Amino acid sequence: MPSQTSLDEIKAFLHCETPDSWIEAALSQQELLLIDHANCEKKAASTALSLMYRYTDDVELLHLMSRLAREELRHFEQVLDIMTARGITYARITASRYAAGLRDQVRPQEPAKLVDTLIAGAFIEARSCERFARLAPLLDEELGKFYTSLLKSEGRHYRDYLNLAKAAAGTDISDRIAEMGECERALIQAPDSEFRFHSGVPVLSPDSG
Ligand SMILES: [Fe+2]
Ligand SMILES: [Fe+2]
Repeated sequence: MPSQTSLDEIKAFLHCETPDSWIEAALSQQELLLIDHANCEKKAASTALSLMYRYTDDVELLHLMSRLAREELRHFEQVLDIMTARGITYARITASRYAAGLRDQVRPQEPAKLVDTLIAGAFIEARSCERFARLAPLLDEELGKFYTSLLKSEGRHYRDYLNLAKAAAGTDISDRIAEMGECERALIQAPDSEFRFHSGVPVLSPDSG
């Protein structure tokens, strides 16, 4: 468990809390939640690996991203074990708009490209942490314990991304963090017809009747 301070720090970093309607949707669609959660862990590992391919001259980044990728793959295995035990079929589902929406904010030129990618990583980790913390007390004991156990590493991932972003920029990046935080808030608070781990405010899709 992160200390109360670090969960508070994560809440302060994010520009909004997860809407209650998303929590309700998650509790009523736990199979979909787990399938998309498995996908998020896989994607988190793959993002870290692609940074390791792109920035081979940054030893600190290489160490932190290598450890992060290992931890995300371990989380993936844990989600998969829970899905298997519960008889959940690992269906292929589309990715949510969330990561793509953050990725759209990344500026094309270096070093801004790296800085923005790392800031996006910090927001994704922080939002995951906030959602795990909100969901944990409302889930069954096994899932609640698992989600609580994830808080510590996801909280560290948030800090690692943020520290790497500050180091890569070499200047104050608080304005850029605030801009991307607004984008993240908009993605979380806007209506979203597709329920996913990082989706926005649930609305019925036009074809769902
Ligand atoms: Fe993870
Ligand atoms: Fe993570």
